Amino acid sequence: MSRKPSIGAMSAACHAGIAAFEQSQDNPFFVYDLDSLSEHIASLANDDIKLWFAVKANPLSKVIQTLDQQGMNFDVASLGELEQVLAQGVSAKRVLNTGPAKSIKQIKRFIELGVNTFVVESINQLELINQLSGEFNVTPEILLRVQLRFEQGDNNPLGGNSLTPFGLGSQEWSQIKLADYANVNVIGLHIFQWGNMLDGEKLISLWQAMIAPLTELADSLGFELQVLDLGGGLGIPYAKGDNSLSWHELTSALAQIKRQANLNELWMELGRYAVGEYGCYVSKVVDVKQNYQQSLLVLQGGINHLLRPAITEQPFPVSLLRASNAPAQSFHVHGPLCTSLDKLGELALPSDVCVGDSLVFSQCGAYGFTEAMPFFLCHELPAEVVYQHGEFEVVRPSVPASSYLF
Ligand SMILES: Cc1ncc(COP(=O)(O)O)c(C=O)c1O
Repeated sequence: MSRKPSIGAMSAACHAGIAAFEQSQDNPFFVYDLDSLSEHIASLANDDIKLWFAVKANPLSKVIQTLDQQGMNFDVASLGELEQVLAQGVSAKRVLNTGPAKSIKQIKRFIELGVNTFVVESINQLELINQLSGEFNVTPEILLRVQLRFEQGDNNPLGGNSLTPFGLGSQEWSQIKLADYANVNVIGLHIFQWGNMLDGEKLISLWQAMIAPLTELADSLGFELQVLDLGGGLGIPYAKGDNSLSWHELTSALAQIKRQANLNELWMELGRYAVGEYGCYVSKVVDVKQNYQQSLLVLQGGINHLLRPAITEQPFPVSLLRASNAPAQSFHVHGPLCTSLDKLGELALPSDVCVGDSLVFSQCGAYGFTEAMPFFLCHELPAEVVYQHGEFEVVRPSVPASSYLF
């Protein structure tokens, strides 16, 4: 029997359609299965948790619209993300602003555009937001971002136990007097230090370990901890044998944390877990060679379109777009850049893969297009395509380097 490629949580219908759709594309492209994404987001709805979509994971208009239709709120970390969300018709009242770099200009613009909820990551940010709120005669809701150190925590791209620019330690926050910031309403705390967690028990135990130090901090600052925002960090499987988190188990634990800490609201800002499994990236093979007894493939697109393997050394799952009966063998899969960093992994593919074939990388719905380094070597930008109501639509056509070179 010929092997069927697998594409994460994307539907079989979308997968089947990609082979025909690919014939119309000369350059690499991303596909997002909005029909399945919509069902997934609907399945996350939970009375105990308010969900925000971390827009950095995938700011494509159609993705934002799909999440908006399912009632998600939006966590933005730049003016660009804010304007993109507002352009989709989302109210600024459903936007939360996180991020360690909030310039005066940016805060002003956010307030002017009606954003009323800010995660504050430093004392300077608190002072600025307080001062500008006075000038604009608004009283935004504020969460102070806290950075804790845990015995059971290790290091991680989000910082883990190491020093990061995300928030401040409890000791640093306890130096402030909230009475000095009368133009803002501090309603809660934010904490988020671990990304792509796949061990549900560890994640829950880290969350539980946060409650005591966070409630102590709120007490010492003298405000009622109405809201706790636990950020993102929920992982998706990238490798065979990786665990998949159980949303039911996580939300049961979160509901308990909410009761235990006597919170009015518990928030999460999901990025990867919201959209990661609903996108794939398709790129053609432009060369196949043997070198020092090993097999190499060179693709049209590599880390210029999908940076994650270079940062994490973890490949995306891959399959050959066409069916093949050939036995699997290992290939070193490279992109087109003149750096050995441009490697998408050492991956098993049918041995008959050849020039002109297309490879499909799954789990690429989050941290794909906008996380990459597309300008290096002046290749084409990849297209972004959505699959919705059973049809493919090119939302962003692939463009040549002449469109961005001056
Ligand atoms: C403040 C904040 N919230 C949420 C997220 C989303 O994280 P994830 O994709 O792990 O859900 C990020 C990611 O960097 C973040 O910085």
